[in-house]
Amino acid sequence: MREPLTVRRAAPGDEPILRALRLEALTEAPDAFASTYERELARTTADWRRWFSPGVTFLLEDAGTPRGLVAGMHDAEDPGVVYLMAMWVHPALRGSGAADALVAEHLAWARGEGAWLARLDVMATNARARRLYERHGFRLTGQEKVREADGRVELRMERPLDSAA
Ligand SMILES: CC(C)(COP(=O)(O)OP(=O)(O)OC[C@H]1O[C@@H](n2cnc3c(N)ncnc32)[C@H](O)[C@@H]1OP(=O)(O)O)[C@@H](O)C(=O)NCCC(=O)NCCS
Repeated sequence: MREPLTVRRAAPGDEPILRALRLEALTEAPDAFASTYERELARTTADWRRWFSPGVTFLLEDAGTPRGLVAGMHDAEDPGVVYLMAMWVHPALRGSGAADALVAEHLAWARGEGAWLARLDVMATNARARRLYERHGFRLTGQEKVREADGRVELRMERPLDSAA
């Protein structure tokens, strides 16, 4: 990742930054996410705070300007499974290695939490994101979900955490 890009773990107080990034992501790449701009707009500060605890969020910054994010959380039924969610990098920083840094931070967090499996859902049409995840050891599980609202297909990918990519 080129300087001066940095990744840091978001903390209470970062709610407005997270909100602005999510709204930017939903505006720039609406087809990449299961959520909608309207849904994110309606979230309260308390809602966003749950992205820091019990969830985790990493922020990508370019010389201090927020330019991307990734979020994580434990599966409600199996805490050994963690989800990778809300991945977004500003178009100007795509192909820079910034996305790799975000995924790496997420996986390091997951291992630190003692998780054994990382899981995500990606739109079937999102070849670029799929390629990124494959590079980090994620593989398609064959499970897919057709969204009732618009018929779009989400593919599940998983990556065991006890081995390198
Ligand atoms: C998904 C995202 C985070 C990936 O970050 P990125 O910096 O673009 O990723 P990279 O360029 O490092 O890697 C993407 C891979 O896709 C390839 N790629 C680039 N454009 C592509 C395209 N149009 N179609 C298919 N693959 C493409 C790249 O060559 C690279 O593959 P490689 O490892 O074989 O070289 C970023 O594109 C993004 O924020 N997209 C919008 C939001 C989104 O889709 N989020 C994911 C939700 S699941």
